[in-house]
Amino acid sequence: MPAMSDEVRFVLNGERVDVTGVSPQTTLLEFLRDHRRLTGTKEGCAEGDCGACTVVLAERRDGALAWQPINACIRLLPSIDGKAIFTVESLKAGDRLHPVQQALVECHGSQCGFCTPGFVMSLFGLYKSAHAPSRAAIENALSGNLCRCTGYRPIVDAAERMYALPSAGGWRAPGVAADGTRVVSRDEAQLVALLDLLARDRALDYRADGQRWTAPRSGQELAALCAARPRATIVAGMTDVALWVTKQHRVLDDIIYVGDADDLRCIRETSEGIEIGAAVPLTDAVAALDRTWPELDEAWRRFASVPIRNSATLVGNLANGSPIGDSMPALIALGATVLLRAATGVREVPLDAFYPGFRQTARKPTEFLAAVRIPARSPALVVRAYKISKRIDQDISAVFACFALRLAGDRVDDVRIGCGGVAATPARARRTEALLHGARWDADTVERAATVLGEEFTPIDDLRASAVYRRTVLGNLLRRCFHETRGAQSIVTRIDSPQLAVSVS
Ligand SMILES: Cc1cc2nc3c(=O)[nH]c(=O)nc-3n(C[C@H](O)[C@H](O)[C@H](O)COP(=O)(O)OP(=O)(O)OC[C@H]3O[C@@H](n4cnc5c(N)ncnc54)[C@H](O)[C@@H]3O)c2cc1C
Ligand code: FES
Ligand code: FES
Repeated sequence: MPAMSDEVRFVLNGERVDVTGVSPQTTLLEFLRDHRRLTGTKEGCAEGDCGACTVVLAERRDGALAWQPINACIRLLPSIDGKAIFTVESLKAGDRLHPVQQALVECHGSQCGFCTPGFVMSLFGLYKSAHAPSRAAIENALSGNLCRCTGYRPIVDAAERMYALPSAGGWRAPGVAADGTRVVSRDEAQLVALLDLLARDRALDYRADGQRWTAPRSGQELAALCAARPRATIVAGMTDVALWVTKQHRVLDDIIYVGDADDLRCIRETSEGIEIGAAVPLTDAVAALDRTWPELDEAWRRFASVPIRNSATLVGNLANGSPIGDSMPALIALGATVLLRAATGVREVPLDAFYPGFRQTARKPTEFLAAVRIPARSPALVVRAYKISKRIDQDISAVFACFALRLAGDRVDDVRIGCGGVAATPARARRTEALLHGARWDADTVERAATVLGEEFTPIDDLRASAVYRRTVLGNLLRRCFHETRGAQSIVTRIDSPQLAVSVS
């Protein structure tokens, strides 16, 4: 007799849905379109790039409801268990358009029918979570939506206009009142009650089509599962793993989901530093890191897009071992370590020793990554992180470099340099560090160090950049870092980070 399966239970456009018999590697997008005929949500790229599939996820968090746009095309269905999903079909009330839709009409922001539902849902996510956002915040909210026709200005105008329009009731009502306080509407209260009914106190164990999805509730349960099923695929935000399904058509028979383990969705800040758990989405991780390392914010904002960062985890980025991942060079420069947990115990490995080879990590099959630890910031530390890619938003790095220097007077007291896109693994520039260590922080030293840095790695030519370009850029980034530390003698190198940009006097 086949083993019993739980159902996947969630709220869809305000109604409870119980799912059985659907493969656990079905994407949320496939489920909406093929099983529920909710075809307002479109498929453009099926890889998280275009935003046509954007829906809004609502979940209970810290006693309140959090509303976040996500990409339905790369979200596997069982990960929605216990949460609520809103699609574009839910917004209109009878004949009345939602203020987001009405504003798009009035500002002439509705263009082709393919991308518009995605724009609507990204704006709905913004509408529910922010009040009177700045133009920069609106542009950030739209970072995951591509429009190839007439451009974004009328859409950004609509985002400013939507708050001024009368609400159409229910979750259609604004998430915040005019004075900035949060409004919980009657429908929101009902949604909370529905979600409370779906809450589980034990792991979801869902089986269909000979495949299995298990979502443990704690790190301890997860460790036991890794010991019992070492060949299972561990998934967190699935922004990498779902592409194995949608693009490589791989069959994942056995999946263990990290995202419902409450004790892994924690950020611990102490005098020793900060520890970010494996289930913490990038959006939350970045907010915490920005408090101590504001210099990294620009690089984080250029990590994918808002909907991707709402699903993807920081630890998942470290775990995938990609040589072009953005967080590894930054965290290597900051001296981070990763916590590898097994049923038998936990070991701590420096991030710069975690990648033995191309897309390899030091994790054993019976272990999972429980958290990343970043030591407390030492005084007088200068930090700069640079992402070089062809586009500002939603692009993969050609080169990523992060410099963390401690200056004592005019000397370099300590230095760590993390680099991405220039070797088979994320790497530390140890030869350059050795040259800089104890040297004067002046133009002569930096010239010599930039030459060494440009020669320290043997990058490849690929579609993102040539090897020569990568080497040249790496050296130039050190020069740029130097100029940015020269105060009034410096040059402006940033587009929108006034705290880092200092004009030539
Ligand atoms: C459109 C798009 C844009 C992107 N842009 C960027 C970008 O700008 N910069 C960048 O660096 N990346 C980018 N990515 C890649 C991806 O978003 C990141 O790598 C992300 O951080 C992965 O985290 P995740 O939680 O989604 O991982 P998942 O996809 O769930 O897992 C990734 C890998 O890590 C393993 N894993 C996950 N969690 C654990 C754990 N706790 N223990 C052990 N193994 C684990 C999985 O088995 C898998 O091998 C982009 C992806 C997409 C689709
Ligand atoms: S279909 Fe393009 S992001 Fe999902
Ligand atoms: S709205 Fe679809 S291409 Fe512009």
